[in-house]
Amino acid sequence: MSNIHVIEHPLVQHKLTLMRKKEASTSSFRRLLGELASLMAYEVTRDMPLQEVQIETPLETMTGKVIDGKKLVLVSILRAGNGFLDGMLDVVPGARVGHIGLYRDPQTLQAVEYYFKMPSEMVERDVIVVDPMLATGNSASAALTRLKQTHPRSIKFVCLLAAPEGIATLQAAHPDVPIYTAAIDRQLNEHGYILPGLGDAGDRIFGTK
Ligand code: URA
Repeated sequence: MSNIHVIEHPLVQHKLTLMRKKEASTSSFRRLLGELASLMAYEVTRDMPLQEVQIETPLETMTGKVIDGKKLVLVSILRAGNGFLDGMLDVVPGARVGHIGLYRDPQTLQAVEYYFKMPSEMVERDVIVVDPMLATGNSASAALTRLKQTHPRSIKFVCLLAAPEGIATLQAAHPDVPIYTAAIDRQLNEHGYILPGLGDAGDRIFGTK
């Protein structure tokens, strides 16, 4: 599979295993997700372009490096994406944040948009889309199609777990968007849950089950 990056860092793998356990409490699940999001943000932003700037230290003038261009945008696919945001914002506190809300029409099974709010001047911005679970890939694919209407400079997609089916769907529709994940699991079950997975990420983050 090309254009997919599995983040093998030992801290990422260790925390992911703790999160998967069914006995993990809502608070530890949420804390681990935040920690993982911070670690993954570090990897995902590794190739961001830099520009040189002149600064004054207390001793002399020097040329330093800062991230080039307009502020990065983190886009959360509601609602589980919000569980990823805080940990990412800890590492990139100046980032702008967008939200995309989609639901699946029970008749047509198509993704229907109910919320879409992005920062201004998207054409000049790099975007990182976050959703913990890449399962069927249908909502992620619809979210990227909608997002591309704002013509951002670049788009990356970050999830915690990916199913092979979701990767295939997303890459067929958006081969230009790199996918970052902590693991590629075995398969989806008949209800669209990832196996072995970690259950319903939204319910586990927000304690709604
Ligand atoms: N969404 C989840 O929260 N979990 C899955 O396993 C699949 C989709």
